This record gives sequence, structure tokens and C-alpha cells, in this order.
Amino acid sequence: MTPEARAYSQTLGEEHSIWFKISPFLSADDPMGVLMKLLRRRGGCVPITMREEKIYLLSEIAHIRHVLVDHVDNYAKYFDGLKPIFGKAMITVDGVLWQKVRKPQQPYFHPHVYADYLPYLLIAVRARMDQWAKLAAAGETVEALEQTWSLAADMICRALFDREVPFNPTAVFSAVKAYTDVANHRSVRLKKVAGGLQEVSADEAPAQAIGAWLTLPEAVIGAPPWQARENTLLKMMQSAEADPDMPAWDHQQVMDEIKQYLWAGTETTALTLGWALYLLSQHPEVAEGIRREGEQVYGDRDPTPEDIERLSYTRSVMLETLRLYPPAWALIRTAVADDEIAGHKVKAGDRIVLSPYAVHHDARYWDEPEAFRPERFAPGSMQKRAKYSYLPFGAGKRFCLGGQLAQVEVVLALTLLLRRFRPRYIGQVPAPIAASVTLMPRFGLPFKLEQLS
Ligand code: HEM
Repeated sequence: MTPEARAYSQTLGEEHSIWFKISPFLSADDPMGVLMKLLRRRGGCVPITMREEKIYLLSEIAHIRHVLVDHVDNYAKYFDGLKPIFGKAMITVDGVLWQKVRKPQQPYFHPHVYADYLPYLLIAVRARMDQWAKLAAAGETVEALEQTWSLAADMICRALFDREVPFNPTAVFSAVKAYTDVANHRSVRLKKVAGGLQEVSADEAPAQAIGAWLTLPEAVIGAPPWQARENTLLKMMQSAEADPDMPAWDHQQVMDEIKQYLWAGTETTALTLGWALYLLSQHPEVAEGIRREGEQVYGDRDPTPEDIERLSYTRSVMLETLRLYPPAWALIRTAVADDEIAGHKVKAGDRIVLSPYAVHHDARYWDEPEAFRPERFAPGSMQKRAKYSYLPFGAGKRFCLGGQLAQVEVVLALTLLLRRFRPRYIGQVPAPIAASVTLMPRFGLPFKLEQLS
């Protein structure tokens, strides 16, 4: 294990990490129930003092707009505990560096390039369908997130890097999950606090996870190009590194951007697909609606970019899934200078936790918020919605760069997978949530697959 991996192994669990501080809440049986109860009792801006630190928990749309849009430059990204995962990638940095890193990448996420990516995404989905056919025939129980995470990694590697996935996604992503599961860090920390001498062995799992993670960018770069495409995001980043006029793009920046896409660009998509399959298994009539729509829109041929646009029912299922289970359930910022929110004096250095989950489950913004109703997102519904009441991709200038691409990926995967298979969830209902850095199913999402004729 490298010294770098060892040094990194516990940063999410260090006492100063906000993730460690809120870990008792995250470890609750029903963390989101606790969150919603707290907000109902205390209002939309809850100040919480934790030792020397003040945290403000925000769930009111006016305050969210204040932080993410109107005063965005006063609220810096907080990614302390996640540095080992992301380094100094775009998602973590602010100011001039953020601009220099984001700007040249934007064209690779412009809606007009998704038509170019579609054939590669299709290849990834078809490969997963072949895999599912074998699993269905064998009658095996499958863990949905293993499946959807592998699929998401395959789509990203092919579309953005022109590579086949050059690592074992199941092993790598279970390692990353071990690292981002704050509860793991909490138990290690508590052992240390209690003077336990097992800390070296307890440190082992997160350190190994990070060790594996740090090797991935070189594995991607070193893998043979898949189709030798001229213009890919990976090639652009490598040219930027070689360009003396782009000094922000050093080698580490390229490594960190690749890591960012391999995590922020895959886990979120995988969770969305996993939770969607779970909801569809509970609502077979909605799954039938997706099948019917696919049959009408593209029938027996491959879906085209225009078809993807026309799959509005499938899209509304995805959007409703993201409302109920936003993978990024909390966005964290640090105040740069003093400010005022809802009459509270916010001091420079205070932490701000904004919760898309809380906004999505607030009855002031959503009628019967706990009900799964894709019709809420029927075409034309956006005009009726309160602005900033729907935040699965964040808001303001730090809005998710890959949000549109993720939507194409999820709609394509849902329509094709559902038309050929009937995935049946066999776990506990409702599926309990584990709030770690993302909104995870506590006991996974076990499924049986049935192949349709
Ligand atoms: C359903 C899937 C996805 C969800 C729910 C999601 C969610 C988010 C959210 C909430 C943010 C803002 C974080 C903040 O404000 O602190 C974000 C940022 C970002 N996401 Fe996504 N994301 C998804 C898929 C993707 C994909 C597929 C990619 C790329 C391939 C991607 C790349 C990024 C990047 C680069 C940023 C940072 C943007 C910046 O700081 O300028 N995301 N994402």
C-alpha cells in the first residue's frame, strides 16, 4: 500500500470532517425520517453547533437560491473528506481554477454531442442485456447496483474516454463504497477514541480502497483506444496537459478529472437506475407504460436521438425517481465571508448543508411527496413547479455538468432493459436507506430477472 493511500485512508472520518460530525445522524435506522422530522420542527434554516463549528441546514427554496445562485461566490465547495476520491477535480474547486478546468470540457457535454455518444451507450446497454439474459436463465439473484454501476462505468469509459472499462468495476466500486460509507470511518474513529489498538487493521479497508482507486486514471490512459476516435474528452484533457498556454492543466489535473468522472459520473447514474428498477418493481403498471412507449416510439429498431427525446413517459419515471431518491441528498459549502440567512448571522468558515432530499419531500412544494407519481413530470409540468424545488443536479453555475448525459443514459437503459426483462425486487419493502455521501439502499437492491419473450 502506498504512503499516499495510507495518509488518505481516514480523512472522511477525521474529527474535523463534517461527515464525521454528522455520522450519528447518518447511522440512524431511518436517517431521512430523522432529517424531515427535524426540519418540520425547526423550520427551513436550522443552525446546529457542533463543538467549535456552526452548521446551517437549509431546505427552504429561497435560502437554497441565496447560496447556490444569488451569493454563489460567497459559498465555497466543501470536499475535505472526499479529497482522496476527487483530488482537485473541477467538482471540488472554486474561482479561477474552476473556470479554467470547466470551460474546455463543456463542449463534450453540450446536448448536440449526445447523438454522437448514443451508439457507444447502446453498445454498453446491449452488452449488459446479454449478461442479464445469462443471469435470468441461471435464475441467479443479482445485486442491482453492481449491475447498474458496471453499466454506467462502461457507458462513461466508451463515450468520454474511448476505452473499454480497464478494471473490474464490481471490485473497484465496492471498495469506493467502503470508503464513502461514513459509518465505516465512524467505527474506526470510535475505536481510536476508545484507545483500541486495532486501528491499524481497521484502517486497512479504506486505505486499500483508496490504493485501488488511485491506480485507475493510469489504467484508463494506458488502455488501448477502443475505436481510435479523434475527438474525445480524454484526448482534449491530454492535449491541455501538453499545451504550455494551459498551465492549470498539469498531469495531476488530468488524473483527478478522470477520477471525478469514474465516481461522480457513474455512481449517481447507477443509483438512479437502481432506485428506478426498485420503484418499477413495486409499480408494474408503470413498467408496462415504459414498455408500451418503447414499442410505439422505436419498435424493433435501435432508438435514435430523436426517439430518446420522444420517450417522455420513461423520462418522467427517471425524473420522479430522482425526486424521491436524489443520489446527492446533501450539498455542502463553506461560507467565505460573513453573511445573513433567514435572520441568522452566518460567519466566514461556517458550513452550509443544503438538502435536495428535504426539498423534494416537502409537502409545500410537492403534493403527497412520498407518492411515486411519474405524471408529475409530464411534458409542460415544469412551468407549474416552484423554481428550485427540484434539485437532483444542483442549481446555479455549479449545476451538474453531466446532467443531460446522465438523463440520456438512464432513459436509454430503462427503455431497453424493461422491454426485454422483468426485474423483480426481492428485498425488504420499503427498501431502507443508508445516507452516506450518497443516498444508498442500506441492504442493497437484490433482484431476480425474468426474460420476456
Ligand atoms: C443521475 C446522475 C447524476 C446526478 C444525480 C448528479 C448530481 C450532481 C450534483 C447534485 C452536482 C452538484 C454538486 C454541488 O453543487 O455540490 C453535480 C456536479 C457535477 N457532476 Fe453530476 N450528477 C449525475 C451524473 C453526472 C454525470 C454522468 C457526469 C459526467 C459524466 C457528472 C459530472 C459532474 C461534474 C463534472 C460536476 C461538477 C460541476 C461543477 O462543479 O462545475 N454528473 N452532479
